[in-house]
Amino acid sequence: MKTIISAAIASLALAAGPTVAQDGDMAFGTEEDIAYAELLWDLMEAERLAGPDMIRAFPYEGLEPHGLMLETFYAEGTINDHTGDLVVKRNFGPEGVSVDEVLSDPDGHLGAYTVMFRREAGYDPDNLDWFWARYNPDGSIAENPMGVALAGRVAKGMEDGCIACHAGAADDMVFTSDHLIAN
Ligand code: HEC
Repeated sequence: MKTIISAAIASLALAAGPTVAQDGDMAFGTEEDIAYAELLWDLMEAERLAGPDMIRAFPYEGLEPHGLMLETFYAEGTINDHTGDLVVKRNFGPEGVSVDEVLSDPDGHLGAYTVMFRREAGYDPDNLDWFWARYNPDGSIAENPMGVALAGRVAKGMEDGCIACHAGAADDMVFTSDHLIAN
């Protein structure tokens, strides 16, 4: 497994999308999205990118909204015979937390995992086929204030959310590295 810890120098660009999601076209949080996000969690645990046996890295100061101390891992993973790019970000807090505090008690400071996994071609061609998910530290899938699971094409067609914000990151929708652009 390739693991590159990359320090981020990212500019935060907010891309405005269409204001309304298309009716009857749930872009994320469906049963299928949740089931896929559970497979993705299993993969991350197996690769030791998440869960009790996870590999630790040296946390670095990141940018909002992911928390101010981060670890980012670049890997590849296979789900249902499809192999794709996998980017896992661990978000630590609270605001003002130091590297030493995170290192001495990483589990106590872990706020969330935010994850991008490149699915099969055609999954979401508008957005480079990325599947987006946010997990709580215990592996459950996080929800937005409306109770919709943050898994799938989050939040396609809306002004805020994973896709709208990451649309401002180079040509691969990834802020911390450009190495995936050629893919
Ligand atoms: C308001 C903007 C914004 C939103 C919304 C956002 N992100 Fe990010 N994301 C960023 C920035 C900026 C970085 C780089 C931060 C750093 O590492 O310092 C980043 C980094 C990441 C990374 C590491 C790869 C990369 O792009 O560098 C992942 C994975 C990720 N975000 C997933 C998500 C997911 C999943 C969601 C939705 C649940 C989400 N993000 C919502 C701005 C955003």
